[in-house]
Order: sequence, then C-alpha cells, then structure tokens
Amino acid sequence: MKIQVNARNRTHLFEASPGEKILHGGLARGIALPYECASGTCGTCKAKRVSGDIDDAWPDAPGRKSLKSADEFLMCQCVARTDVVAEVPAFVQMMDTGSCVPCAGTGRIASTEMLTHDVMLIDVETDAPVEFDAGQFVLLGVDDVEGMRGWSMVNFDRHARTLRFVVRRKPDGVLSDWLFGGASRAGTRVSLFGPLGHATFYPSLGRDLLCIAGGSGIAGVMSILSRAEQDEYFSRHSGDVFFGIRTSRDVYFLDEFTRLRRVCGEGLAVTVALSDEDPPSSLVSDYPLIRFDRGFVHEVAKRHMVGRLGNVIAYLAGPPPAVDASIRMLLLSRVTADNIRYDKFS
Ligand SMILES: Cc1cc2nc3c(=O)[nH]c(=O)nc-3n(C[C@H](O)[C@H](O)[C@H](O)COP(=O)(O)OP(=O)(O)OC[C@H]3O[C@@H](n4cnc5c(N)ncnc54)[C@H](O)[C@@H]3O)c2cc1C
Ligand code: FES
Repeated sequence: MKIQVNARNRTHLFEASPGEKILHGGLARGIALPYECASGTCGTCKAKRVSGDIDDAWPDAPGRKSLKSADEFLMCQCVARTDVVAEVPAFVQMMDTGSCVPCAGTGRIASTEMLTHDVMLIDVETDAPVEFDAGQFVLLGVDDVEGMRGWSMVNFDRHARTLRFVVRRKPDGVLSDWLFGGASRAGTRVSLFGPLGHATFYPSLGRDLLCIAGGSGIAGVMSILSRAEQDEYFSRHSGDVFFGIRTSRDVYFLDEFTRLRRVCGEGLAVTVALSDEDPPSSLVSDYPLIRFDRGFVHEVAKRHMVGRLGNVIAYLAGPPPAVDASIRMLLLSRVTADNIRYDKFS
C-alpha cells in the first residue's frame, strides 16, 4: 500500500506492508513520524485521512479522545486497506544518520523472575540482534493478548540478543493477568517492534544526569546507568537517581545500585523515596551506599537537588502523575524543557 504523509514542512512517501501499522511503516523507513506511547493512549500520533481506507485495530483506544473529526485517526493503531493520503499537523523530518531505526522482530521469553510481589524481571531472547539507545523501549506482543505493550529495556548492549525488562503487574490488566496468572511464560514466542522512544541518553550530552523514576519507570534508568558506567560518565559528571516506590516491600535493584555506587564512586548518588512509610532502619543499615527518604519521588528529588539543577539533563519515567509532577517541579526550578526527557507509562 502506498502511503503519502503531508506534513507541515514536506511530503513523505512510503510503501506499507500488508497489516503494517502506518506509524510502524513510516518509522521503519526512517521517517520520524510523531509518537509518544506508540500504543494507543496518548494521541500524539494523530493524523487526518485525506483519501483512502484504513482499518482501526483498536477503536476503543484512549488516545482517540484527542481526535476532533471522523477523518482523524491514530497512526499507531491503524492499517491502510488501500493507498492512503494523510495529513500530519507537525513538522516531520527524516531520522538523523546513525539513529536506531525501529523494525519488526521476533523472539522468545527466555526467563522470568519475581523481584517483588508484583514486579517481574523478564529476559527476552531476540531472533536477530537489536540496536537500541539507552532509555528506549520496544512494543511487545504475544498471541494470547490483543495489541502490543510498551516495555523499556533495563540493559544496554550493542547488537543485543537479550532484552531485559521489569514489568509491574497492573490490577485487571490483560497482559498482566496473562503474565502473572500463575503459569510460567518462559518459552513463549513474542513479536517485537522497536526500538522506540525519545528519552535517550548519549555520553556526548556532557551534562549532569538527573533520573526520577516512579515504580517500573526505573527500567530505562537502569539502561541509562549501564551506558554511563560503560563510558565512565560519572568521573566527569554527577549523576542523581531517585527511585520512587510506596513501601519497602516494593523495592528492588538495591544490590545493583550498591554495585554501581561502588564502581562509579561519589559521582553517583542513589535515593529511594518511599511515599507511604518511613524507611525501615533495616534497609538503611543493610544498604549504607543508598540514601532512603520519605515522600513522593518528585518532592524528594526537589529537596535533594536544591542549587544543583543548573547543568542537568533530566530523565523521567513511570506512571503519568509521577512524570507530570516531576516535569512541573523541574520547570518551576528553571530547568528548560529541552533538558527534560520523559516516558509516561500510560
Ligand atoms: C513508553 C512506555 C514504556 C513502558 N515501559 C514499561 C516498563 O518498562 N515496565 C512496565 O511494567 N510497564 C511499562 N509500560 C506500561 C505497559 O506498556 C502496560 O501498560 C502495562 O504493563 C499494563 O499492561 P496490561 O495489559 O496489564 O494492562 P491493560 O490495561 O490491559 O493494557 C494496557 C495497555 O495495553 C495496550 N492495549 C490494551 N488493549 C489493547 C488493544 N486491544 N489493542 C491495542 N493495544 C492495547 C494499551 O497501550 C493500554 O494502555 C510502558 C508504557 C509505555 C507507554
Ligand atoms: S503514539 Fe499513538 S496514541 Fe500515543
């Protein structure tokens, strides 16, 4: 199917494969179409159909609430049935040379491990190597569940054959119920699309690093820390990580944070913020290299970063309320929008 996208600055033409989502088709051909969640919730990928027919794979997608007319559609959910001409109300460039261009792939769940009562560590072995930037995510689907879900990579490796994820159980979530329902899912075949996401970290950015994560938002932060460690980034710049959870039963990765603190030294500080209880003294004494504090993660970050936000680039991830509160806090503290990168786990 021929797809023509009329953007504000130019027209893009590409050929979409049968069944391929219009967003995926454009991105896979290096066209930087607008998106945020890539999974039907945010509305960022909206476009207006000028001609042609499309099928909407998820007519109930929450992101449709940002559509204003019957001709508008979400590129991340729609597939062309005929040749399509569409208008996108944005400037759309080709991706920069050297970008990790997303593509469809496959793999299998190699192993799973419970990290807490509702968080699972999952390793997916891919059938072909995957290139991604630290802080990116992929869409992952399984035959038994409709639609794909965004999961952020925890690891950072070149030519990765394993993608590591931390996935939090969402009450009554369809994939959550499938994953946490009792049966082992190791060995399950998965489909993938990615890498995706603009909250990417490159050592050449040369700024102090501030990471604020709510819950499983810590996934992409771990990937960023891994890249920074490989580059000895914290010998040149400071790094502050704030990991927000509710209570001590929700905490994980403390051993990995301790290892990173030992390797990276004083340049890296890690604070775990507990919103619903005072940090238990056992945690404080068992993990002396990690700071524990009480409060919402953006409030704790604000307290500890007073006077230290001048040269930061901030990475935020997790539930939308936590990310929105952190964005507000940073903007009010005069961090400019171009130094704030985020993924909302909507
Ligand atoms: C950029 C990004 C990165 C994320 N990274 C992580 C992560 O690292 N760890 C983590 O735990 N969570 C992450 N999430 C959240 C995750 O994608 C899921 O929303 C969450 O795991 C709950 O899935 P569920 O199926 O249990 O819940 P559900 O409420 O059943 O579904 C949640 C999401 O699945 C998609 N979906 C549901 N039904 C359909 C359908 N019929 N067709 C198409 N799509 C559908 C939608 O995006 C929906 O919002 C991320 C989300 C985003 C947007
Ligand atoms: S990118 Fe399509 S709805 Fe978010």
